[in-house]
Amino acid sequence: MLWTGVMSQRVQKRRLLAEIACVFILGCVGVVQGVTLEVKEGNSTCIKAELSALFSVVYNVANGTRTAFVPLPDTATVGSRSSCSGGSGTAWLVASFGWGHSLSFSFSRDSSLYRVDSVTLQYNLSDSATYPGSSSTGLVTVATASTGILAGINTTYRCETASPVSLGGVTVIFSDMRMEAYIPGRDLSANETICTADYINNVAALKMSLNLTYTSTSLNKTVQQLVNLQPRQTKNTGLCEENSATLWLLEKCTNLSFSFTLNSTSSKYYLSGIAVSAAWPDMREPFSGSNRSLEYLQGLLGHSYMCSAEQTLSVVPGFSLNTFQVQLQPFGVNGEQFGSAEECQLDEDHMLIPIIVGAAMAGLALIVLIVYLSRKSSYSGYETI
Ligand SMILES: *[C@@H]1O[C@H](CO)[C@@H](O)[C@H](O)[C@H]1NC(C)=O
Ligand SMILES: *[C@@H]1O[C@H](CO)[C@@H](O)[C@H](O)[C@H]1NC(C)=O
Ligand SMILES: *[C@@H]1O[C@H](CO)[C@@H](O)[C@H](O)[C@H]1NC(C)=O
Ligand SMILES: *[C@@H]1O[C@H](CO)[C@@H](O)[C@H](O)[C@H]1NC(C)=O
Ligand SMILES: *[C@@H]1O[C@H](CO)[C@@H](O)[C@H](O)[C@H]1NC(C)=O
Ligand SMILES: *[C@@H]1O[C@H](CO)[C@@H](O)[C@H](O)[C@H]1NC(C)=O
Ligand SMILES: *[C@@H]1O[C@H](CO)[C@@H](O)[C@H](O)[C@H]1NC(C)=O
Ligand SMILES: *[C@@H]1O[C@H](CO)[C@@H](O)[C@H](O)[C@H]1NC(C)=O
Repeated sequence: MLWTGVMSQRVQKRRLLAEIACVFILGCVGVVQGVTLEVKEGNSTCIKAELSALFSVVYNVANGTRTAFVPLPDTATVGSRSSCSGGSGTAWLVASFGWGHSLSFSFSRDSSLYRVDSVTLQYNLSDSATYPGSSSTGLVTVATASTGILAGINTTYRCETASPVSLGGVTVIFSDMRMEAYIPGRDLSANETICTADYINNVAALKMSLNLTYTSTSLNKTVQQLVNLQPRQTKNTGLCEENSATLWLLEKCTNLSFSFTLNSTSSKYYLSGIAVSAAWPDMREPFSGSNRSLEYLQGLLGHSYMCSAEQTLSVVPGFSLNTFQVQLQPFGVNGEQFGSAEECQLDEDHMLIPIIVGAAMAGLALIVLIVYLSRKSSYSGYETI
Protein backbone atom coordinates (compact mmCIF):
# COMPACT_ATOMS: atom_id res chain seq x y z
CA MET A 1 0.00 0.00 0.00
CA LEU A 2 2.73 2.34 0.96
CA TRP A 3 4.54 1.89 -2.30
CA THR A 4 1.43 2.37 -4.35
CA GLY A 5 1.26 5.92 -3.10
CA VAL A 6 4.85 6.62 -3.91
CA MET A 7 4.73 5.03 -7.31
CA SER A 8 1.56 6.55 -8.56
CA GLN A 9 2.87 9.97 -7.70
CA ARG A 10 6.04 9.26 -9.62
CA VAL A 11 4.29 7.81 -12.59
CA GLN A 12 1.94 10.74 -12.81
CA LYS A 13 4.84 13.11 -12.75
CA ARG A 14 6.49 11.19 -15.56
CA ARG A 15 3.35 11.30 -17.62
CA LEU A 16 3.06 15.02 -17.19
CA LEU A 17 6.61 15.40 -18.30
CA ALA A 18 5.68 13.25 -21.25
CA GLU A 19 8.57 12.37 -23.46
CA ILE A 20 10.67 15.32 -22.58
CA ALA A 21 13.80 15.85 -20.61
CA CYS A 22 16.43 14.50 -18.39
CA VAL A 23 19.45 15.73 -16.46
CA PHE A 24 22.85 14.45 -15.66
CA ILE A 25 24.92 15.53 -12.69
CA LEU A 26 28.32 14.50 -11.50
CA GLY A 27 29.12 15.11 -7.87
CA CYS A 28 31.73 14.52 -5.24
CA VAL A 29 30.57 12.56 -2.27
CA GLY A 30 34.20 12.31 -1.21
CA VAL A 31 34.03 15.76 0.34
CA VAL A 32 30.39 15.53 1.31
CA GLN A 33 30.32 14.22 4.83
CA GLY A 34 27.56 12.44 6.59
CA VAL A 35 25.77 14.73 9.02
CA THR A 36 23.54 13.78 11.94
CA LEU A 37 20.75 16.15 12.93
CA GLU A 38 18.37 15.66 15.84
CA VAL A 39 15.34 17.58 17.06
CA LYS A 40 14.45 17.00 20.70
CA GLU A 41 11.52 17.82 22.91
CA GLY A 42 12.47 17.48 26.55
CA ASN A 43 14.60 14.36 26.68
CA SER A 44 13.10 12.58 23.72
CA THR A 45 14.10 12.81 20.09
CA CYS A 46 11.24 13.39 17.66
CA ILE A 47 13.17 13.84 14.39
CA LYS A 48 16.51 12.37 13.50
CA ALA A 49 18.29 12.54 10.16
CA GLU A 50 21.59 11.06 9.08
CA LEU A 51 22.38 12.23 5.58
CA SER A 52 24.78 13.77 3.10
CA ALA A 53 23.61 16.75 1.09
CA LEU A 54 25.26 18.66 -1.70
CA PHE A 55 23.76 21.87 -3.05
CA SER A 56 24.41 22.80 -6.63
CA VAL A 57 23.68 26.54 -6.75
CA VAL A 58 23.55 28.43 -10.05
CA TYR A 59 24.17 32.15 -9.52
CA ASN A 60 24.79 35.18 -11.68
CA VAL A 61 28.19 36.71 -12.23
CA ALA A 62 29.04 39.77 -14.32
CA ASN A 63 29.46 37.88 -17.58
CA GLY A 64 27.11 34.92 -17.14
CA THR A 65 26.34 32.28 -14.55
CA ARG A 66 28.38 30.01 -12.35
CA THR A 67 27.64 26.87 -10.38
CA ALA A 68 28.80 26.52 -6.80
CA PHE A 69 28.77 23.09 -5.16
CA VAL A 70 28.13 23.56 -1.46
CA PRO A 71 28.16 20.51 0.81
CA LEU A 72 26.14 20.39 4.02
CA PRO A 73 29.01 20.46 6.53
CA ASP A 74 29.16 18.31 9.64
CA THR A 75 29.29 21.54 11.63
CA ALA A 76 25.62 22.17 10.72
CA THR A 77 23.57 22.75 13.86
CA VAL A 78 19.90 22.20 14.55
CA GLY A 79 18.31 25.62 14.87
CA SER A 80 15.75 26.91 17.33
CA ARG A 81 13.06 27.06 14.66
CA SER A 82 12.97 23.26 14.73
CA SER A 83 9.91 21.83 16.42
CA CYS A 84 8.30 18.53 17.35
CA SER A 85 4.81 20.04 17.57
CA GLY A 86 3.70 17.48 20.14
CA GLY A 87 4.00 14.57 17.73
CA SER A 88 0.95 15.26 15.58
CA GLY A 89 1.08 18.58 13.71
CA THR A 90 3.67 19.98 11.31
CA ALA A 91 7.16 19.22 12.59
CA TRP A 92 10.27 21.12 11.51
CA LEU A 93 13.92 20.25 11.18
CA VAL A 94 16.00 23.37 10.53
CA ALA A 95 19.77 23.00 10.14
CA SER A 96 21.97 26.10 10.05
CA PHE A 97 25.45 26.21 8.55
CA GLY A 98 28.05 28.53 7.09
CA TRP A 99 27.30 32.24 6.88
CA GLY A 100 23.53 32.53 7.03
CA HIS A 101 22.75 29.22 5.29
CA SER A 102 19.93 26.96 6.41
CA LEU A 103 18.24 23.79 5.21
CA SER A 104 14.71 23.09 6.48
CA PHE A 105 12.39 20.13 6.21
CA SER A 106 8.74 20.30 7.19
CA PHE A 107 6.94 17.06 7.98
CA SER A 108 3.32 16.08 8.31
CA ARG A 109 1.65 12.80 9.20
CA ASP A 110 -1.54 10.88 9.24
CA SER A 111 -2.27 7.63 11.05
CA SER A 112 -0.08 5.48 8.82
CA LEU A 113 2.39 7.71 6.95
CA TYR A 114 4.63 10.70 7.42
CA ARG A 115 6.08 12.76 4.61
CA VAL A 116 8.36 15.68 3.90
CA ASP A 117 6.00 18.42 2.71
CA SER A 118 8.68 20.90 1.80
CA VAL A 119 12.41 21.42 1.65
CA THR A 120 13.67 24.99 1.93
CA LEU A 121 17.18 26.30 1.44
CA GLN A 122 18.36 29.72 2.45
CA TYR A 123 21.76 30.77 1.12
CA ASN A 124 23.82 33.91 1.36
CA LEU A 125 25.21 35.38 -1.85
CA SER A 126 27.18 37.89 0.23
CA ASP A 127 29.42 34.98 1.22
CA SER A 128 32.04 35.67 -1.42
CA ALA A 129 34.19 32.69 -0.45
CA THR A 130 31.36 30.36 -1.46
CA TYR A 131 29.92 32.44 -4.34
CA PRO A 132 32.92 34.26 -5.81
CA GLY A 133 32.05 37.02 -8.25
CA SER A 134 28.31 36.93 -7.49
CA SER A 135 26.66 39.98 -9.01
CA SER A 136 23.98 40.09 -6.31
CA THR A 137 24.28 39.89 -2.55
CA GLY A 138 22.06 39.00 0.37
CA LEU A 139 19.94 36.05 1.38
CA VAL A 140 18.03 33.96 -1.13
CA THR A 141 15.35 31.46 -0.17
CA VAL A 142 14.25 28.66 -2.46
CA ALA A 143 11.77 25.89 -1.68
CA THR A 144 10.01 22.91 -3.17
CA ALA A 145 6.82 21.17 -2.25
CA SER A 146 7.44 17.88 -3.99
CA THR A 147 10.17 15.74 -2.51
CA GLY A 148 8.86 12.20 -2.78
CA ILE A 149 10.11 11.51 0.75
CA LEU A 150 7.40 9.41 2.35
CA ALA A 151 7.53 6.57 4.87
CA GLY A 152 5.40 4.52 7.22
CA ILE A 153 4.88 5.78 10.76
CA ASN A 154 7.31 4.05 13.13
CA THR A 155 9.73 3.29 10.30
CA THR A 156 12.98 4.93 9.23
CA TYR A 157 13.07 6.32 5.69
CA ARG A 158 16.22 5.03 4.01
CA CYS A 159 17.67 6.15 0.71
CA GLU A 160 21.33 5.50 0.01
CA THR A 161 21.17 6.30 -3.67
CA ALA A 162 21.90 9.91 -4.49
CA SER A 163 18.59 11.64 -5.18
CA PRO A 164 18.25 15.15 -6.50
CA VAL A 165 15.51 17.54 -5.39
CA SER A 166 15.07 20.66 -7.47
CA LEU A 167 14.42 23.96 -5.69
CA GLY A 168 14.30 26.61 -8.37
CA GLY A 169 17.87 27.50 -9.28
CA VAL A 170 19.28 25.09 -6.72
CA THR A 171 19.43 21.33 -6.81
CA VAL A 172 20.00 19.44 -3.57
CA ILE A 173 21.44 15.98 -3.94
CA PHE A 174 20.72 13.88 -0.90
CA SER A 175 22.52 10.62 -0.38
CA ASP A 176 23.05 8.02 2.32
CA MET A 177 19.91 9.26 3.99
CA ARG A 178 18.28 7.68 7.05
CA MET A 179 15.60 9.86 8.51
CA GLU A 180 12.56 9.57 10.73
CA ALA A 181 10.04 12.05 12.08
CA TYR A 182 7.51 11.40 14.87
CA ILE A 183 9.97 8.87 16.36
CA PRO A 184 8.17 6.64 18.85
CA GLY A 185 11.27 5.42 20.72
CA ARG A 186 14.60 6.89 21.69
CA ASP A 187 16.27 6.50 18.33
CA LEU A 188 15.58 5.70 14.68
CA SER A 189 13.17 2.78 14.32
CA ALA A 190 14.67 -0.51 13.25
CA ASN A 191 12.00 -1.03 10.59
CA GLU A 192 12.76 0.81 7.39
CA THR A 193 10.92 2.20 4.39
CA ILE A 194 13.36 1.93 1.50
CA CYS A 195 13.20 4.38 -1.38
CA THR A 196 12.61 3.16 -4.91
CA ALA A 197 16.01 4.20 -6.16
CA ASP A 198 17.73 1.85 -3.72
CA TYR A 199 16.02 -1.08 -5.40
CA ILE A 200 17.50 -0.27 -8.73
CA ASN A 201 20.84 -1.59 -9.69
CA ASN A 202 23.00 1.08 -10.99
CA VAL A 203 23.66 0.04 -14.54
CA ALA A 204 25.64 3.16 -15.33
CA ALA A 205 28.90 2.70 -17.04
CA LEU A 206 30.78 5.66 -18.16
CA LYS A 207 34.08 6.16 -19.87
CA MET A 208 35.40 9.57 -19.27
CA SER A 209 38.51 11.22 -17.99
CA LEU A 210 39.01 14.69 -16.58
CA ASN A 211 41.96 16.77 -17.64
CA LEU A 212 42.61 19.43 -14.99
CA THR A 213 45.37 21.99 -14.77
CA TYR A 214 46.12 23.14 -11.23
CA THR A 215 48.90 24.19 -8.90
CA SER A 216 50.41 21.26 -7.06
CA THR A 217 51.32 21.95 -3.45
CA SER A 218 54.00 19.28 -3.29
CA LEU A 219 55.67 20.21 -6.57
CA ASN A 220 55.04 23.97 -6.22
CA LYS A 221 54.14 24.25 -9.87
CA THR A 222 51.32 23.98 -12.35
CA VAL A 223 50.55 20.41 -13.35
CA GLN A 224 48.13 18.72 -15.73
CA GLN A 225 46.44 15.65 -14.42
CA LEU A 226 44.25 13.15 -16.17
CA VAL A 227 41.80 11.32 -13.90
CA ASN A 228 39.56 8.50 -15.04
CA LEU A 229 36.08 8.30 -13.64
CA GLN A 230 35.54 4.81 -12.33
CA PRO A 231 32.12 3.65 -13.35
CA ARG A 232 31.60 1.30 -10.45
CA GLN A 233 32.58 3.89 -7.89
CA THR A 234 30.62 6.66 -9.45
CA LYS A 235 27.27 7.49 -7.97
CA ASN A 236 25.07 9.12 -10.47
CA THR A 237 21.67 10.63 -10.48
CA GLY A 238 19.56 12.54 -12.90
CA LEU A 239 16.85 15.14 -12.94
CA CYS A 240 14.34 15.77 -15.69
CA GLU A 241 12.79 19.10 -16.44
CA GLU A 242 10.74 20.51 -19.27
CA ASN A 243 13.46 21.24 -21.80
CA SER A 244 16.52 20.37 -19.83
CA ALA A 245 18.09 17.31 -18.31
CA THR A 246 20.93 17.11 -15.80
CA LEU A 247 23.15 14.24 -14.74
CA TRP A 248 25.32 14.26 -11.67
CA LEU A 249 28.13 11.78 -11.23
CA LEU A 250 29.35 11.54 -7.68
CA GLU A 251 33.00 10.76 -7.61
CA LYS A 252 35.47 10.99 -4.80
CA CYS A 253 36.44 14.66 -4.37
CA THR A 254 35.15 15.68 -7.77
CA ASN A 255 31.74 17.17 -8.45
CA LEU A 256 30.52 17.22 -12.01
CA SER A 257 27.22 18.13 -13.58
CA PHE A 258 26.15 17.72 -17.18
CA SER A 259 23.14 19.65 -18.46
CA PHE A 260 21.40 18.75 -21.68
CA THR A 261 19.07 21.11 -23.48
CA LEU A 262 16.37 20.27 -25.95
CA ASN A 263 15.69 22.76 -28.72
CA SER A 264 12.10 21.95 -29.54
CA THR A 265 12.20 24.00 -32.75
CA SER A 266 14.97 21.96 -34.31
CA SER A 267 14.16 18.76 -32.31
CA LYS A 268 17.81 18.52 -31.38
CA TYR A 269 19.34 17.98 -27.98
CA TYR A 270 22.87 18.75 -26.98
CA LEU A 271 25.17 18.89 -24.00
CA SER A 272 24.83 22.56 -23.10
CA GLY A 273 26.55 22.87 -19.75
CA ILE A 274 29.28 21.24 -17.69
CA ALA A 275 30.22 22.28 -14.17
CA VAL A 276 33.06 20.88 -12.12
CA SER A 277 34.49 21.35 -8.70
CA ALA A 278 37.46 19.35 -7.51
CA ALA A 279 39.21 19.37 -4.17
CA TRP A 280 42.10 16.98 -4.64
CA PRO A 281 44.59 16.50 -1.84
CA ASP A 282 47.55 18.04 -3.64
CA MET A 283 45.74 21.09 -4.98
CA ARG A 284 46.85 24.41 -3.61
CA GLU A 285 43.24 25.52 -3.86
CA PRO A 286 40.08 23.75 -5.00
CA PHE A 287 39.32 23.99 -8.69
CA SER A 288 35.92 25.01 -9.91
CA GLY A 289 34.60 26.01 -13.27
CA SER A 290 31.47 25.88 -15.34
CA ASN A 291 30.46 26.68 -18.87
CA ARG A 292 26.81 26.80 -19.80
CA SER A 293 27.14 27.75 -23.42
CA LEU A 294 28.38 24.49 -24.89
CA GLU A 295 27.01 22.57 -27.85
CA TYR A 296 28.49 19.09 -27.59
CA LEU A 297 27.12 15.60 -28.24
CA GLN A 298 24.29 16.78 -30.42
CA GLY A 299 21.52 14.29 -31.20
CA LEU A 300 18.11 14.19 -32.75
CA LEU A 301 15.02 13.85 -30.54
CA GLY A 302 13.89 10.22 -30.50
CA HIS A 303 17.36 8.93 -31.30
CA SER A 304 20.27 8.13 -29.09
CA TYR A 305 23.64 9.72 -29.54
CA MET A 306 26.50 7.28 -29.90
CA CYS A 307 30.19 7.90 -30.24
CA SER A 308 32.88 5.36 -29.84
CA ALA A 309 35.80 7.55 -30.79
CA GLU A 310 37.57 9.64 -28.20
CA GLN A 311 36.36 13.23 -28.04
CA THR A 312 37.78 16.16 -26.15
CA LEU A 313 35.22 18.49 -24.65
CA SER A 314 36.84 21.78 -23.65
CA VAL A 315 34.96 23.42 -20.80
CA VAL A 316 36.99 26.28 -19.36
CA PRO A 317 40.70 27.07 -19.49
CA GLY A 318 42.45 24.39 -17.47
CA PHE A 319 39.62 21.89 -17.64
CA SER A 320 38.53 19.54 -20.37
CA LEU A 321 36.89 16.13 -20.53
CA ASN A 322 37.84 13.24 -22.74
CA THR A 323 34.96 10.89 -23.49
CA PHE A 324 35.02 7.43 -25.03
CA GLN A 325 32.31 5.00 -26.04
CA VAL A 326 29.39 7.17 -25.19
CA GLN A 327 25.77 6.32 -25.76
CA LEU A 328 23.10 8.55 -24.34
CA GLN A 329 19.60 9.76 -24.91
CA PRO A 330 18.48 12.47 -22.56
CA PHE A 331 15.14 13.16 -24.25
CA GLY A 332 12.36 11.40 -26.06
CA VAL A 333 12.84 7.93 -24.67
CA ASN A 334 10.19 5.44 -25.61
CA GLY A 335 9.92 2.54 -23.21
CA GLU A 336 13.12 1.23 -21.77
CA GLN A 337 15.35 1.26 -24.79
CA PHE A 338 17.59 3.60 -26.59
CA GLY A 339 16.16 4.98 -29.80
CA SER A 340 18.00 4.08 -32.98
CA ALA A 341 21.53 5.35 -32.67
CA GLU A 342 22.86 8.31 -34.51
CA GLU A 343 26.53 7.85 -35.08
CA CYS A 344 28.83 10.75 -34.43
CA GLN A 345 30.83 12.08 -37.34
CA LEU A 346 34.11 10.85 -35.87
CA ASP A 347 32.88 7.27 -35.91
CA GLU A 348 31.55 7.51 -39.42
CA ASP A 349 34.88 8.82 -40.50
CA HIS A 350 36.51 5.75 -39.07
CA MET A 351 33.93 3.30 -40.41
CA LEU A 352 33.65 1.75 -37.00
CA ILE A 353 29.94 1.20 -36.91
CA PRO A 354 29.85 -2.61 -36.69
CA ILE A 355 32.40 -2.57 -33.93
CA ILE A 356 30.56 0.12 -32.07
CA VAL A 357 27.27 -1.66 -32.22
CA GLY A 358 28.96 -4.79 -30.96
CA ALA A 359 30.67 -2.92 -28.23
CA ALA A 360 27.49 -1.23 -27.15
CA MET A 361 25.69 -4.56 -27.06
CA ALA A 362 28.45 -5.99 -24.97
CA GLY A 363 27.68 -3.35 -22.44
CA LEU A 364 30.80 -1.31 -22.86
CA ALA A 365 30.25 2.35 -23.02
CA LEU A 366 27.83 4.67 -21.92
CA ILE A 367 26.63 7.53 -20.08
CA VAL A 368 23.51 6.39 -18.39
CA LEU A 369 20.11 6.81 -19.62
CA ILE A 370 18.32 8.48 -16.83
CA VAL A 371 14.92 8.21 -18.37
CA TYR A 372 15.51 4.52 -18.63
CA LEU A 373 16.30 4.29 -14.95
CA SER A 374 13.46 6.37 -13.74
CA ARG A 375 10.90 4.60 -15.87
CA LYS A 376 12.26 1.30 -14.85
CA SER A 377 11.89 2.32 -11.24
CA SER A 378 8.36 3.54 -11.69
CA TYR A 379 7.13 0.53 -13.53
CA SER A 380 9.04 -2.15 -11.72
CA GLY A 381 7.62 -0.67 -8.56
CA TYR A 382 4.15 -1.32 -9.84
CA GLU A 383 4.98 -4.82 -10.87
CA THR A 384 6.11 -5.76 -7.40
CA ILE A 385 2.92 -4.63 -5.69
C1 LIG B 1 15.54 14.02 31.39
O1 LIG B 1 16.58 13.14 31.78
C2 LIG B 1 17.17 13.50 33.03
C3 LIG B 1 18.37 12.56 33.27
O2 LIG B 1 18.15 11.30 32.74
C4 LIG B 1 16.13 13.38 34.12
O3 LIG B 1 16.69 13.75 35.38
C5 LIG B 1 14.96 14.31 33.80
O4 LIG B 1 13.93 14.17 34.74
C6 LIG B 1 14.42 14.01 32.43
N1 LIG B 1 13.40 14.99 32.05
C7 LIG B 1 12.23 14.66 31.53
C8 LIG B 1 11.31 15.80 31.18
O5 LIG B 1 11.91 13.51 31.32
C1 LIG C 1 34.21 36.41 -16.82
O1 LIG C 1 34.66 37.15 -15.70
C2 LIG C 1 35.70 36.52 -14.97
C3 LIG C 1 35.98 37.35 -13.74
O2 LIG C 1 35.92 38.71 -14.00
C4 LIG C 1 36.92 36.38 -15.87
O3 LIG C 1 37.96 35.72 -15.17
C5 LIG C 1 36.56 35.58 -17.09
O4 LIG C 1 37.65 35.51 -17.99
C6 LIG C 1 35.38 36.18 -17.81
N1 LIG C 1 34.96 35.26 -18.86
C7 LIG C 1 34.62 35.69 -20.08
C8 LIG C 1 34.21 34.63 -21.05
O5 LIG C 1 34.62 36.88 -20.39
C1 LIG D 1 26.15 36.73 4.78
O1 LIG D 1 27.53 36.67 4.52
C2 LIG D 1 28.23 37.84 4.88
C3 LIG D 1 29.67 37.70 4.43
O2 LIG D 1 30.22 36.48 4.86
C4 LIG D 1 28.12 38.04 6.40
O3 LIG D 1 28.79 39.22 6.77
C5 LIG D 1 26.65 38.14 6.78
O4 LIG D 1 26.52 38.22 8.18
C6 LIG D 1 25.92 36.90 6.28
N1 LIG D 1 24.49 37.03 6.56
C7 LIG D 1 23.86 36.29 7.48
C8 LIG D 1 22.41 36.53 7.65
O5 LIG D 1 24.47 35.48 8.17
C1 LIG E 1 3.82 3.54 16.54
O1 LIG E 1 4.44 3.24 17.76
C2 LIG E 1 3.72 3.76 18.88
C3 LIG E 1 4.56 3.54 20.15
O2 LIG E 1 5.20 2.31 20.09
C4 LIG E 1 2.35 3.08 18.97
O3 LIG E 1 1.62 3.61 20.05
C5 LIG E 1 1.60 3.35 17.66
O4 LIG E 1 0.37 2.66 17.66
C6 LIG E 1 2.43 2.93 16.47
N1 LIG E 1 1.76 3.36 15.27
C7 LIG E 1 1.69 2.65 14.15
C8 LIG E 1 0.92 3.22 13.00
O5 LIG E 1 2.26 1.57 14.06
C1 LIG F 1 45.17 18.12 -21.12
O1 LIG F 1 44.96 19.49 -21.37
C2 LIG F 1 46.13 20.17 -21.80
C3 LIG F 1 45.84 21.66 -21.98
O2 LIG F 1 44.60 22.03 -21.53
C4 LIG F 1 46.62 19.58 -23.11
O3 LIG F 1 47.82 20.23 -23.50
C5 LIG F 1 46.88 18.10 -22.91
O4 LIG F 1 47.24 17.52 -24.15
C6 LIG F 1 45.64 17.42 -22.39
N1 LIG F 1 45.95 16.02 -22.13
C7 LIG F 1 45.20 15.01 -22.56
C8 LIG F 1 45.71 13.64 -22.28
O5 LIG F 1 44.15 15.18 -23.17
C1 LIG G 1 57.27 28.16 -5.22
O1 LIG G 1 57.75 28.70 -6.45
C2 LIG G 1 57.84 30.11 -6.45
C3 LIG G 1 58.24 30.59 -7.84
O2 LIG G 1 58.41 29.55 -8.73
C4 LIG G 1 58.84 30.58 -5.39
O3 LIG G 1 58.88 31.98 -5.36
C5 LIG G 1 58.38 30.06 -4.04
O4 LIG G 1 59.35 30.38 -3.06
C6 LIG G 1 58.19 28.54 -4.07
N1 LIG G 1 57.62 28.11 -2.81
C7 LIG G 1 58.07 27.07 -2.14
C8 LIG G 1 57.37 26.74 -0.86
O5 LIG G 1 59.00 26.39 -2.55
C1 LIG H 1 16.74 26.18 -32.06
O1 LIG H 1 16.90 25.76 -33.40
C2 LIG H 1 16.49 26.75 -34.34
C3 LIG H 1 16.53 26.12 -35.74
O2 LIG H 1 17.75 25.45 -35.94
C4 LIG H 1 17.39 27.96 -34.22
O3 LIG H 1 17.00 28.96 -35.13
C5 LIG H 1 17.27 28.51 -32.79
O4 LIG H 1 18.18 29.59 -32.60
C6 LIG H 1 17.57 27.42 -31.77
N1 LIG H 1 17.26 27.94 -30.45
C7 LIG H 1 18.12 27.92 -29.45
C8 LIG H 1 17.64 28.46 -28.14
O5 LIG H 1 19.25 27.49 -29.60
C1 LIG I 1 32.58 28.05 -23.02
O1 LIG I 1 32.65 27.22 -24.14
C2 LIG I 1 32.62 27.92 -25.37
C3 LIG I 1 32.54 26.89 -26.47
O2 LIG I 1 33.54 25.92 -26.31
C4 LIG I 1 33.87 28.82 -25.47
O3 LIG I 1 33.83 29.54 -26.66
C5 LIG I 1 33.88 29.78 -24.28
O4 LIG I 1 35.07 30.51 -24.27
C6 LIG I 1 33.78 28.99 -23.00
N1 LIG I 1 33.63 29.92 -21.88
C7 LIG I 1 34.52 29.99 -20.89
C8 LIG I 1 34.20 30.92 -19.77
O5 LIG I 1 35.54 29.35 -20.91
